[in-house]
Amino acid sequence: MIKKPWAGRFKKGTHKVAEKFSASIDFDRRLYKEDIEGSVAHAGMMAANGIIPEKEAEKIIKGLRQIEKEIDSGKFPFREEYEDIHLNIEKRLIEKIGEVGGKIHTGRSRNDQIALDMRLYLRKEIEEIVELLGLISERLVDLAEKNFGTVLPLYTHLQRGQPVLLSHHLLALFEMLRRDRERYIDCFGRVNVMPLGAGAGAGTTFPIDREHTASALGFPEVTRNSIDTVSDRDFIIEFISVSANLMTHLSRISEELVLWSTKEFDFVDLGDEFTTGSSIMPQKRNPDMAELIRGKTGRVYGDLVAILTIMKGLPFSYNRDMQEDKEPMFDAADTVKSCLAVLHEMLHTIEFKRESMEKALGEGFITATDIADYLTRKGMPFRKAHEVTGKIVGYAEEKGRELVNLHISEYKMFSRTFDEDLFDYITLEGSVGNRKSFGGTAGENVLGMIETAKKDISSWKKEG
Ligand code: ARG
Repeated sequence: MIKKPWAGRFKKGTHKVAEKFSASIDFDRRLYKEDIEGSVAHAGMMAANGIIPEKEAEKIIKGLRQIEKEIDSGKFPFREEYEDIHLNIEKRLIEKIGEVGGKIHTGRSRNDQIALDMRLYLRKEIEEIVELLGLISERLVDLAEKNFGTVLPLYTHLQRGQPVLLSHHLLALFEMLRRDRERYIDCFGRVNVMPLGAGAGAGTTFPIDREHTASALGFPEVTRNSIDTVSDRDFIIEFISVSANLMTHLSRISEELVLWSTKEFDFVDLGDEFTTGSSIMPQKRNPDMAELIRGKTGRVYGDLVAILTIMKGLPFSYNRDMQEDKEPMFDAADTVKSCLAVLHEMLHTIEFKRESMEKALGEGFITATDIADYLTRKGMPFRKAHEVTGKIVGYAEEKGRELVNLHISEYKMFSRTFDEDLFDYITLEGSVGNRKSFGGTAGENVLGMIETAKKDISSWKKEG
């Protein structure tokens, strides 16, 4: 039987069932690079501070690099008996370089080691996600620019409401993702704090230099309280929470793509590359990718509920429950990245169908608000104007005609305030062009929004 690191105090070995049950190596092996980076930095710091001799540190680091190669090439013997990635690497190190390998765990505990690994991992994941969000944002702005001038109905309650520019709508999606991007960056700041040196939770008796380790690993600061350091998982909760929020947004974007690609709407063509056929109905072209993004949102919500529930009511400081934090974290990061990647590519094949949008605008009295605004501008209280317009809409509906097609004499039957100039306001151009309030849909505003968005994107690129 393999000797556990704690064998000194134990008479019997771990039961097979317990061993299998408690091992995390199947999933935490994904952290091997982070684990090795952390150990290399720790060994370097110990040598620099005379905790272990320079020569031994070199030996340890060389061994760790060999192990990294073994894992890279799939030759590493992962063993469940060694529970997790930390012990698997440590045991292998000792096998490779002898007893001296055991010095790597001086002044350290798996409790601070795992916190470090996960922070290193999340830093990288957040960077990738922020990058992907940048690409999608750029694509949305591109689409807004290319489709400038196309008008579609703004829906409220999924009923046609008012005409707006498609570019304006695309920039609404941009705004949503811009906030998500900010949230990830904000979260990054709290992830980017170096925990090693907390030991099991009380700190260590060795003269470690935590700032040294932090700067070797590119952390701008170190955690301030060793107890908190090994207890805290809110950096993971925050990451998954920000991710859940992003997924909410992606699911809404997806839902709209699903809806818009129906024959009923027919506003977009998602491209063959991102739709699938039916195995039975030959005519079908299904928006599966968008549906899957919508569906995968459920996974990330599940991850959030899982991590919150794992942490709820846990006594201080480290508890083994916390080993359950990794799968939700991995799953949330993987899911978000794959959804963003597919959405980004899908946005390259998408085509907007201007004629269908125009057709939808031609029905449904879409400029009714403009009639009410017209009367209000001429002095009628808005409430009254709303009522008068409602009657006109009823009249048009009865006659089976649209508002622009009614004669001015017909308008005058409802109010003598109406004049020929009404028609400057109730065409699509008039309706859109007159909504000049800041953030509104008028062309000049939207062009300004495109410029602002482009500036945002170029500043993101500069920040790197
Ligand atoms: N595998 C453990 C985890 O993921 C590492 C920390 C273990 N610490 C301990 N005292 N058993 O949380």
